[in-house]
Amino acid sequence: REEEEENLSEETKTWISSLPWEIDYLGNKLFKYEGYWYYEDVLQSIPNIQSGFKPQETDIIVASFPKSGTTWLKALTFALVQRSKHPSDDDHHPMLSHNPHELVPYLEYLKSSKPDLTKFLSLSSSPRMFSTHMPLHAIQEPLKESPCKIVYVCRNVKDVLVSLWHFFNANKGVQWNDFSQTEKIIREEDYSFEAMFESFCNGVTVYGPSWDHALSYWRASLEDPKHVLFMMYEELKAEPRTQVKRLAEFLDCPFTKEEEDSGSVDKIVELCSLSKLSSLEINKSGALGGVDFKTYFRKGEVGGWKSYMTPDMENKIDMIIEEKLKGSGLKF
Ligand code: A3P
Repeated sequence: REEEEENLSEETKTWISSLPWEIDYLGNKLFKYEGYWYYEDVLQSIPNIQSGFKPQETDIIVASFPKSGTTWLKALTFALVQRSKHPSDDDHHPMLSHNPHELVPYLEYLKSSKPDLTKFLSLSSSPRMFSTHMPLHAIQEPLKESPCKIVYVCRNVKDVLVSLWHFFNANKGVQWNDFSQTEKIIREEDYSFEAMFESFCNGVTVYGPSWDHALSYWRASLEDPKHVLFMMYEELKAEPRTQVKRLAEFLDCPFTKEEEDSGSVDKIVELCSLSKLSSLEINKSGALGGVDFKTYFRKGEVGGWKSYMTPDMENKIDMIIEEKLKGSGLKF
């Protein structure tokens, strides 16, 4: 880490320190860049992604706001795209020994110095699968002119908020802002649901505001449906088979009649299910970047927020959502 910190150029440090910042509800410093809030380590990777990421035509990018179903969509995308190489009923399927976050890495968490990013990208096999929590505009420059595909998963923000709160509570020991030159101030009250709620409503959570994030991909999916697919967590839950087939078609790997008849869709849905993934040893005991894989799997409920928000909270966030999504055609 010290070495990496040294690698941060003076130019990058100066740029970051010139940005507006706020302390989030976890006591970490968040910086505002082009309308969104980032921790320093992600922020400093943006110039590297913009100059070091050269997409290939077949690249697939799984994009999401945190806690919207990223792990699930990564699993489904990997299982779908790799199904001829790794049939989903194979006892040696990579998903049985790897967490989906290992199989589809985050662009922003690949080692930040440019040569490492370039090396990793040249080593990945085709089609390469990456993910990102960054809003669309942050990755748009390198993707310009590229036919690669983006799949976005969106979820009801009230469920996202609750999920995020649980996730941060389960990972209190993790230092999210690794490169921080600032001291992290840990105060127990920062972990209260009320504090999280206020931060979230103000848009001041990592990669927030969540509504703008979703809208950026929503609009792109309307403008360029061949390259951007917008999926809803709730629809995946309600009709997984239909949504998985939709995803396969978008990714140009539709199921054949023989595959459908032999139960291939169901097998993928089953392999990627919350119950299956969370029962695997790798996901019970593994970790990456200090985060235990088990904290990526909780209840996966639709509407679980109702047990957490008071009527006042519900009214407040509903008014914000209504105002933000007005006229967009997007509903969550
Ligand atoms: P809850 O905290 O509401 O249970 P992300 O993957 O973006 O970090 O989102 C995590 C949320 O997705 C958690 O929601 C988690 O339980 C749920 N989740 C993880 N894997 C899932 C799967 N395979 N199917 C459905 N939901 C899943």
